[in-house]
Amino acid sequence: MIKKILIVAGIISTHFLHAQTRDAKSDSYRMKVYVDALMKKMTLDEKIGQLNLLNPGGGVATGAVVSSNVETKIKAGNVGGLFGVIGVDKIRRAQELAVNGSRLHIPLIFGSDVIHGYKTTFPIPLGLSCSWDTVMIERSARIAGTEASADGLSWVFSPMVDIARDPRWGRIAEGAGEDTYLGSKVAAAMVRGYQGNDLSAKNTVMACVKHYALYGAAEAGRDYNTTDMSRIKMYEYYLPPYKAAVDAGAGSVMSSFNEVDGIPASANKFLMTDVLRKQWDFKGFVVTDYTAINEMIEHGMGDLKTVSALALNAGIDMDMVGEGFLTTLKKSLTEKKVTLQQIETACRRILEAKYKLGLFDDPYRYCDSSRARKEVLSIDKRQSAREFAEHSFVLLKNNNQTLPLKKSGTIALIGPLANNKNNMLGTWAVSGDAQLSITVLDGIKNIIGSDVNILYAKGANISDDTSLAKKANVFGEKVDIDNRSPQELINEAVITANNADVIVAVIGEASEMSGESASRSDIGLPTSQKELLKALSKTGKPLVLVIMSGRPLTLPWESEIATSILQVWFPGHEAGNAIADVLFGNYNPSGKTTISFPRNVGQIPIYYNHKNTGRPLKGDVWQKFRSDYLDVANSPLYPFGFGLSYTTFSYEDVRVSTNNPKGNQSITATAKVTNTGKYAGEEVVQLYISDPVASVTRSVKDLRGFKKIMLQRGESKDVTFTITTEDLKFYNTGLHHVWEPGEFIIQIGTNSQDVKSVKLNWTK
Ligand code: BGC
Repeated sequence: MIKKILIVAGIISTHFLHAQTRDAKSDSYRMKVYVDALMKKMTLDEKIGQLNLLNPGGGVATGAVVSSNVETKIKAGNVGGLFGVIGVDKIRRAQELAVNGSRLHIPLIFGSDVIHGYKTTFPIPLGLSCSWDTVMIERSARIAGTEASADGLSWVFSPMVDIARDPRWGRIAEGAGEDTYLGSKVAAAMVRGYQGNDLSAKNTVMACVKHYALYGAAEAGRDYNTTDMSRIKMYEYYLPPYKAAVDAGAGSVMSSFNEVDGIPASANKFLMTDVLRKQWDFKGFVVTDYTAINEMIEHGMGDLKTVSALALNAGIDMDMVGEGFLTTLKKSLTEKKVTLQQIETACRRILEAKYKLGLFDDPYRYCDSSRARKEVLSIDKRQSAREFAEHSFVLLKNNNQTLPLKKSGTIALIGPLANNKNNMLGTWAVSGDAQLSITVLDGIKNIIGSDVNILYAKGANISDDTSLAKKANVFGEKVDIDNRSPQELINEAVITANNADVIVAVIGEASEMSGESASRSDIGLPTSQKELLKALSKTGKPLVLVIMSGRPLTLPWESEIATSILQVWFPGHEAGNAIADVLFGNYNPSGKTTISFPRNVGQIPIYYNHKNTGRPLKGDVWQKFRSDYLDVANSPLYPFGFGLSYTTFSYEDVRVSTNNPKGNQSITATAKVTNTGKYAGEEVVQLYISDPVASVTRSVKDLRGFKKIMLQRGESKDVTFTITTEDLKFYNTGLHHVWEPGEFIIQIGTNSQDVKSVKLNWTK
């Protein structure tokens, strides 16, 4: 097959044929020979053309522009890849333009934002991370990759691995939360899931790790905003998930919009070359984010020619949509602002990606309509979507064991998200059809028997604010404002509630109130819904809140008045079925929040692994001349790692194999965990380590391990973690990754606050 394309391309090479027989020299040798031969045929324009990624429109454009004259450019060899083209037929047609219409017949690479599932939509990534189940998360990426590749795609702009400690930032929905250790495990799992063991297989896709780097640290949580941080913090907390994805073999990386150290990421040689290439040995290609090169003009880095040259010099290989490379690199070459070698290196990396994906072997390998018909939106994928959603929910409160609900009596299902298809998928579900979602009302009807009577009332608009509604509705109607007045809606809800035994209020954000360019300065429930809750709480009925949101909301009052709170993020297509399963106890919730819930916005950034300061607050009660606030506690409302179950767990007998380890010895830490409640259930057992004395100040504790276990009623298990000196390491002032001997506190528990600890003294 490869031979075929070489012949088509007119570059049949004896080298290549030779290489085929030398299998000991491996695939990479064959790839080099192939790409060498191809590049010998390419003009400078064609080489620059490979660096050009276009979005012909028709899909969702996330920037101000979409590309024009795409067909002409493809035929002229001016395009390396496309994204935003959805479906086998369209992709095949575009590929034909390149393969039949361009001089060297070089196939295009087709990408897309496959963020949490493809057409079958899974919970938002923040929700998935709350499962702490990396095997399941890997499976979710595997399924998404299979479905996307069945529909013509070979490249996905995922995983998003940006650590975020500021829930004002709307894109916190797209990542794995605040923790570096967990975030790194999730990053690697996603890459493995997408890419499988063989990128050239028809059902695998190339991952694109984003947004490199530090995009989640935008000041004040305002999207695209400046980031500024010390190198120690960067290496310790923000860079490891990108590295984990690279180590897992990610084929590509996306540069971020923000600046780092005064240089926008896409011109940042430190990030793109020193760290990514030299320190991490990344071999794939780097694509910018949407028009990120052009945006450096606004950043104040110069005109398009200048910023395009800066990007190439920094180590960027592919230019997304902006066409700065296409239109200026030739001139910069004659002016000696860039070198031919830089252009060729970038071109080679993109051709290599196509080679690895098997596109030279068969440019239509992902364009099999019979596969698309069979695999896209297949029943088994929906079943997985339901399972993933159930595992992503976090039970925040459950007084009087109100949940699980009894399958008898009358339930008042109330709230603007209770019977709403438009908001179940959450942000960045560009290929998901919202109308295929299961609403909570339908989900409950699907599983309850005739003994349960279900009453429904909308109760409130998601928001009564028409200006907010307009902003949330850019991708279709997410906030629909009812013809009835807010008071009429509330009155109906109260009458409904009064006729029921229990109220289930499904409330929260519209899906586009988080995501890109969806930052909020007030992350509370919209006023319309607070008013509804006030009225409902006055009925005196048990009040169960089911909260959908792309971020942790500030819920201090809500957590007082509610009987139970189930945080469901945005669950995806199977929302209603999964919520019903959990509400009625068909599945016992096991999620733990991967992001701290602030009490108010003033506490932000708030994260569990903060530093101590020289005047730490002991306990959570205000003290003069201590690091605290006059008007709010230091602690979050719900800490990182927190989540209840319908059963209860006890932790006892936390012990280590030795209290005096030496050198590179590895030790074990064990806790006996017992299911002390009435249901079988899963528990995420968490290991934290503190290093109270070091040559640089350390955080109060850091997650260093976790295990999700299943315990039957009354069952106990010893849960054991292996600890090595790798787990003690940190970046010192010389940015060396070291451990220093001395005292360490090993903690095992059910969340970041509630742990049992043992001390040990680890000597060199
Ligand atoms: C986003 C990226 C996304 C790209 C392509 C950008 O606006 O920041 O995450 O992959 O658009 O759609």
